[in-house]
Amino acid sequence: PPYTIGVICGSIAASSINRRLAKALIALAPEALECRFIEIDKLDLYDRDRDDAYPPEAVALKEAIVGSDGILIVTPEYNRSIPGALKNAVDWASRPYGQNALSRKPVGIIGASPGGIGTAVGQQHLKTILSFCNAPMMNEIEAYITFKDEEFAEDDTVTNASTRDFLQTFMETYDDFVRRVLTVIPQQR
Ligand code: FNR
Repeated sequence: PPYTIGVICGSIAASSINRRLAKALIALAPEALECRFIEIDKLDLYDRDRDDAYPPEAVALKEAIVGSDGILIVTPEYNRSIPGALKNAVDWASRPYGQNALSRKPVGIIGASPGGIGTAVGQQHLKTILSFCNAPMMNEIEAYITFKDEEFAEDDTVTNASTRDFLQTFMETYDDFVRRVLTVIPQQR
């Protein structure tokens, strides 16, 4: 059967290099993965006073996560952590207490930066956050992408063969990971 994958870009910038990477990954994904973006840019700042009356954007976020077989997070590193917009989305998704949409959900993490360590530190922070949210994470292969504009065409296809092969292998490994998690960990529906 096809698996639906919710793709969350940690950057809300229209010119985001991580969104470009996400589009390239979607194009390289195995056919069994049906990838669609889950947008996080319309969410208010999380406020626990609203736990009893979640705003529609946050309800939609949670439904999109629960309705996905797996989540793929493509995120920049901001100040050696994750962008506030992404943390905000995770906070909304994880609440109210006991109704955490991310629990048991298989998650893959990847990110791009112009810098040499390619979001490695930000991804470590994200893993700490998501382990508290009880999300099983793909630990290998890791993917810290140093973004080079010349390796991505206008249509976000990857022109550099070795980068393309790596990203394709990443998506194949993620496909395999999602299947394995779904086999052993019952999901909430
Ligand atoms: C950055 N950038 C950055 N890069 C990095 O490798 N490590 C870091 O800690 C930071 N910190 C940081 C903070 C803030 C507030 C901004 C705006 C940027 C640079 C960052 O990698 C670059 O702007 C990317 O283009 C951001 O990704 P998106 O938004 O283009 O996907």
